[in-house]
Amino acid sequence: MFVELDSALDLPLFRQLYEGIRDAVLGGRLAAGARLPPSRGLAAELGVSRNTVTLAYDQLVAEGYLEGRPRSGMQVAATLPSRAGPKPLRSSGARVHRPPLLSARGRVIASAPMPGSAWAGKPPRPFRPGVPALDLFPMRLWSRLVHRRLKRPPPLEYGDAAGYAPLRAAIAEYVSAARGARCTADQVIVVSGSQQGVDLAARVLLDSGDEVWMEDPGYPGARAALLAAGAALVPVPVDGEGMRVTEGERTAPRARMAYVSPSHQFPLGATMSASRRLELLRWAAEAGAWILEDDYDSEFRYSTRPLASLQGMDQDGRVVYIGTFSKTLAPALRLGYLIAPAEIAHAFRAVRAACDRHSPVLDQAVLADFLTEGHFARHVRRMRHLYAQRQEALVGAIRRSLGDRLEVQPTGAGMHLVGWLGEGLDDAAISATLWEAGVEAPPLSRYALVRPARGGLLLGWAGYTPEAIESSVRRLAGALN
Ligand SMILES: Cc1ncc(COP(=O)(O)O)c(C=O)c1O
Repeated sequence: MFVELDSALDLPLFRQLYEGIRDAVLGGRLAAGARLPPSRGLAAELGVSRNTVTLAYDQLVAEGYLEGRPRSGMQVAATLPSRAGPKPLRSSGARVHRPPLLSARGRVIASAPMPGSAWAGKPPRPFRPGVPALDLFPMRLWSRLVHRRLKRPPPLEYGDAAGYAPLRAAIAEYVSAARGARCTADQVIVVSGSQQGVDLAARVLLDSGDEVWMEDPGYPGARAALLAAGAALVPVPVDGEGMRVTEGERTAPRARMAYVSPSHQFPLGATMSASRRLELLRWAAEAGAWILEDDYDSEFRYSTRPLASLQGMDQDGRVVYIGTFSKTLAPALRLGYLIAPAEIAHAFRAVRAACDRHSPVLDQAVLADFLTEGHFARHVRRMRHLYAQRQEALVGAIRRSLGDRLEVQPTGAGMHLVGWLGEGLDDAAISATLWEAGVEAPPLSRYALVRPARGGLLLGWAGYTPEAIESSVRRLAGALN
């Protein structure tokens, strides 16, 4: 017999027999029409119960490998199910065409990995950027709101793809008051973080091959989502006033979209000046292009009031605004929002429905309560105060331990800053050394499409206590030496 059974294996005997016969059929050792013994005879021959053989035969019949009845004898089916394997050569000698494993689109997406995939799921170490003070997430309050909601749950039917109505209303009110946005709740689409916001905007507004201005250096998460949509990214340099709009107009005047983070440019930290904002809005109106405004951390402004959003200045309905609760609350919530131009909000809702219907309604209901009952405003106020102190701790510690070997300027906004390295130093190599020493400080060059003239390290501070910041700066100084 061509099958050897081993009762010491983890695999049940009937499964071993099934696989043995199937492999013999697929390997050609049992040809179409070949006869197999009746179940009683085979059971005796193999020293197993008849039930074991019957189970294996039944499975092989169900999958189309065998025909007949277990008791009276089985035969290999005349027409066999095929299993992927090397195809025979054509008589001409040419190889039969085999399509690639991935689609062209799949290959593009797989080769532009999301930022942070190396550290996803691992506890953050100083100075991984973009991490809020997760130990101060208001867990008890949140769990009280969850329990209250479980007693009075929102409808458990499929929900509105644009989001849970009370949450959309609360977000519209918040972005109007805090960000000077001009919108109604009908324009709000609740998304699972900014990432989905960028993805949706690309699906709704771009065709494959469309040019998109991308801040350079810029946010790799947005880059990955835009590349996934087939966009042709056009790097546009940034300076102290944000994206250099005239450079974009010079290199790609007919681009379909511009991605910007005007409140706090990621990663360099500039606030886009009023004149650049007007230039960008004028270009978009004239070119019929879209502006994707990523307003990811504007709540954290320390010196001046947060600037109003670009969306609020837009007279022509060209801005798609994206906000997130990843920085103000926690990234794992996966909740954010997109404010669509009124005219095309219906398309965003339809595309969201086609992607994954909508965000979990219970989470949305809890967040709605958190916002409308004033907890959100209180939490952000507390964190803003705390983050200002933590930045002071970071800048002070670096200046004391590193002097001008790592040049830092306090920033008026956000949760990270750039530490500038000396001329000619390779920031990627230094970042790798620091990682080994237990310090996370991604290199500026990782965020750039065109290699920056001077290397730097991104240093997040918001999620770390002053003590952790102090000791990590000492480690950083040791490694840098
Ligand atoms: C520029 C920028 N946008 C958006 C986000 C937030 O992404 P999400 O809302 O998908 O968590 C981040 C987080 O690091 C970011 O740096």
